[in-house]
Amino acid sequence: MCGIVGYIGHRDASSIVLEGLKKLEYRGYDSAGLALYDGQKLNVTKTKGKVATLENKLLTTGNTNSSIGIGHTRWATHGEPNDKNSHPHYSNSGELVIIHNGIIENYDSIRKELIKRGYKFKSDTDTEVLINLIEEIQNKTQLKLGEAVQLALKEIVGAYAIAVFDIKKPNELVVAKLGSPLAVGIGKNEYFIGSDASPFLEFTNRAIYLEDGQVAAIRLNKPIKIWEIDNNKPTPVVVQELKMSLEATEKGGYDHFMLKEIYEQPSAIRDTYRGRLLTDEKIIKMAGIEDNIEKFINADRIIIVACGTSWHAGLVAEYILEDLTRTPVEVEYASEFRYRNPIITSQDVIIAISQSGETADTLAAIKIAKENSAFVFGVCNVVGSTIARETHAGAYTHAGPEIGVASTKAFTTQITVLTLIALKLGLAKKTINNKTFEELITELNQIPEKLEETLNCNKIAMDIAKVYKNSQNCLFLGRGYNFPVALEGALKLKEISYIHAEGYPAAEMKHGPIALIDENMPIIVVAINKGHYEKTVSNIQEIKARKGKVIAVVTKGDVTVKELANHVIEIPETLETLSPLLTTIPLQLFSYHTAVLLNKNVDQPRNLAKSVTVE
Ligand code: AGP
Repeated sequence: MCGIVGYIGHRDASSIVLEGLKKLEYRGYDSAGLALYDGQKLNVTKTKGKVATLENKLLTTGNTNSSIGIGHTRWATHGEPNDKNSHPHYSNSGELVIIHNGIIENYDSIRKELIKRGYKFKSDTDTEVLINLIEEIQNKTQLKLGEAVQLALKEIVGAYAIAVFDIKKPNELVVAKLGSPLAVGIGKNEYFIGSDASPFLEFTNRAIYLEDGQVAAIRLNKPIKIWEIDNNKPTPVVVQELKMSLEATEKGGYDHFMLKEIYEQPSAIRDTYRGRLLTDEKIIKMAGIEDNIEKFINADRIIIVACGTSWHAGLVAEYILEDLTRTPVEVEYASEFRYRNPIITSQDVIIAISQSGETADTLAAIKIAKENSAFVFGVCNVVGSTIARETHAGAYTHAGPEIGVASTKAFTTQITVLTLIALKLGLAKKTINNKTFEELITELNQIPEKLEETLNCNKIAMDIAKVYKNSQNCLFLGRGYNFPVALEGALKLKEISYIHAEGYPAAEMKHGPIALIDENMPIIVVAINKGHYEKTVSNIQEIKARKGKVIAVVTKGDVTVKELANHVIEIPETLETLSPLLTTIPLQLFSYHTAVLLNKNVDQPRNLAKSVTVE
């Protein structure tokens, strides 16, 4: 997820674009850049680092008085965060300039074709391929920029929100959108572009939101022209009067980043398996696994090292990996692993899971593993982060920046990546057959839709939170794949509402925690109709016999638990292996609403940091 900004009009484009980038920095902040054209010279300034770094660099590269400019703050997906990979990118002629938010899946084949035709590339990005494809089409067809962009977009597979201009015709911006957001601000003889409205809300509240598959030509002193990429059909220009505050815009209209990120999970999971989960071809493509498949197949065991929520994702992965690959898996708190003089051999594969890619304990665990000749594979969300660079190979989650300190979409996208790995390894080791593989990839492909449906429980979760927000203690119970979900639910509640909570395997309740149960104790039980459902029902009966209050997460249509529990939250049916991707959602929402009702600082809870880079 990156931030794009553009301007064309009578003001100084550089300050508009720069200030606009600052407002979009929450969308990505590993590198930034802008391109300005003053009628004589194209000034492209870009740098690794935050927008402030770009601002300083601009002081030296000279600030032209330009009437057209585009800017970008990056969240890397292809190509490390560095100067050459930051946007904007320009074509070989130096005349076409582009900024892009999204992922082009087939960029490599297009790049190879363009190289055959003599194009040279300065960066590792998919975006530089697109701008040269547009130039190649324009050179061949002499089409206007908008039409050339349209033809190029017909050749690519992936997601994009782009802004392009041609210094030969600097009174026009061409924009297009598929899968990534793009807003056009309408001023008095001036136009603004943004990934959302925050870059231009101070100048105008009139905006057009492009729809997927649309391209638009924006020219001064002319009405905007919008048409469909697929069929050239002109589309009506619908101008909206925006009412949202600037702060609300950054949060996408949600009250907190955490809620926004809970609701982003369907798209974050889609982005994470995009280009990897190919259901039509019935294959999973993951270069990091394919290039090291022998190490995984011949591994004596897989050791997962992580902290916090990432450790919970590792626990879910233990169930999935052992079930599908029959490779022994151990899950270690990185902070314990690093100090206990662990036994590690060159036959071990270590999987390090980290959203930030900067957690000190996880980094230290990686170091020890490498010192003992183990193969280390990273699952990170931040491209080019230290852990991503320290591991021998890896696979990124594509959750986009996670701003809320409490991890939500990182958890579900980590599980998505780890599920893809387990499926790929299981098929390679023949520990699962094609039928099982196809059943799982088909269902995984439907998870985003089922997660959208699961999010409908938001109101119920809030109503339940109202009842229990003043509890002093809370128990979360789950079995099998959903035992780690119980742990994660407890962590969510603890870290944002400051209510003490514990997660337990449901069967463990009778070995101690049952002594805690009384009429003041809410117990959240994951009781979907999979695994040892009947035994979980018995656990619920044991709780009720002691006057405990049961909040049950059940499969839609469940009647048995509904008769027993004080509250039920229904979620769509799915395979047990994939159920954590859905069962965790009600727990996230329950914790979120409890914290809001208690007036806690949901996005930045006390004592916590988003990335624990200290020991
Ligand atoms: C999760 O909600 C917490 N914010 C925290 O436990 C986090 O998961 C942990 O610090 C690990 O961070 P990482 O994934 O960036 O390594």
